[in-house]
Amino acid sequence: MRITLEHAAELLLQGHVVAVPTETVYGLAASIHHPHAIEQIFSLKGRPSSNPLIVHVCDVQTVKQCASDLPSSFASLTQAFWPGPMTLVLKANTDQVPSIVRAGLPTAAFRFPQHPVAQRLIALTGPLVMPSANLSGSPSATAARHVESDFGLSFPVLEGNNAYVGVESTILVYLDGLWQIIRQGALPPAAFEPVLGYLPAVRAHEGTAAPLCPGQLFRHYAPKTHLRLDLECSKAQNSTILGYSDRIYHPSNQVISLGSSSDPHQIAESLYAALRLLDERCVEAALVDIDLPHYGLYSTLHERLAKAAAGDTESAL
Ligand code: TXA
Ligand code: MG
Repeated sequence: MRITLEHAAELLLQGHVVAVPTETVYGLAASIHHPHAIEQIFSLKGRPSSNPLIVHVCDVQTVKQCASDLPSSFASLTQAFWPGPMTLVLKANTDQVPSIVRAGLPTAAFRFPQHPVAQRLIALTGPLVMPSANLSGSPSATAARHVESDFGLSFPVLEGNNAYVGVESTILVYLDGLWQIIRQGALPPAAFEPVLGYLPAVRAHEGTAAPLCPGQLFRHYAPKTHLRLDLECSKAQNSTILGYSDRIYHPSNQVISLGSSSDPHQIAESLYAALRLLDERCVEAALVDIDLPHYGLYSTLHERLAKAAAGDTESAL
C-alpha cells in the first residue's frame, strides 16, 4: 500500500514498520525509540539478531549525541559525503542507541541519507533504523513494487522516487588510527582519498576473528535463479544472460540488460531489478557477463554479483 509522508510519520511514531525510499535501496524503517517495531523488522526480514542495524539521521548533531570518541576526520568525512551513501561505524553511547539496534556491540552505524523523502521523514520522526527492505538473503529493493513482492501488497510503502544509486552505502570503521571499508558500496575507496589523505583499505572477512561487519557473513543479494559468472558470454548460446546494451550476444540467448558496460552507475541502478526479474520470469539458471573492469564502482558490482552467484553455498541464512 503506497502511503503519504504524513501517514508514514504517524505510523512510525505509533510504533509500526514502514518501507522508505532512500537513494541507495529501500529501507525497512522503525523508530529507534520503538523496540517492538525493531524486533518486528528482524522477524519480517528473517534477519539474525546478531546482525546490527544502521541508524539513519537527518543531521550530524544527532550522531554527536549518539556516539563518542569521534575521530578528528569525522568532520571532514561528513562534510564531504553527507547527506549520501556513506555509513560510519562509531563508538555508541549505549544509553542513546538500544542494544537490539547494535546487536549488543559497543558500536553503532550511522548514515544521513540523501533522498529528499527520507530526509523529510526523519525530520518528522527522529532517528530511524533501516536495513534494506528485502527478505534476508534476497536481492535488495530499488522500487516500491520490489518491497511489495517481498512483504505483500498491503505492506505500507512511503511514496517517493525509486532508489537512484541502486547499491547500498559504503560502510567505514575507524581502526588502529585509520578508516577502513568493511562493506564496499556506492562510494569507491578512491572517493575518500582526497578527504582522508590516504586510500582506505577494504577489509574482507578474515578467518575466525569476530566479524568487522556482521552482515557480511550471511547469504546476500541472491535470486532463486542459479547464477554463473562468465567472462566469455559472447560465446554462449541458448542461455539467459545478464549482459550489457553495448555488447553483442548470440541471438539464441535471452538477454536482460544491465545498461552499458561503460557506465557502472547505470549498472548499479538496474542491478537488483534485473536479479529480481530473473525470479519473476522463473528462470532456472542464468549467466552473468562479468567481463567488467576492476576499479571504482565496478569493484562493488563484482562483489555484489559474486555474492548473488554464491547463493546458498554461502554460510547459513
Ligand atoms: O544503503 C544502505 O546502507 C541501506 C539503506 C536502507 O540505508 N541499508 C542497509 O542496511 O544496507 P542493511 O541492514 O541491509 O546492512 C547494514 C550492514 C549490515 O551488514 C550490518 O552487519 C552492518 O551494516 N552494521 C550495522 N551496524 C554495524 C556495526 N555496529 N558494526 C559493524 N557493522 C555494522
Ligand atoms: Mg541488506
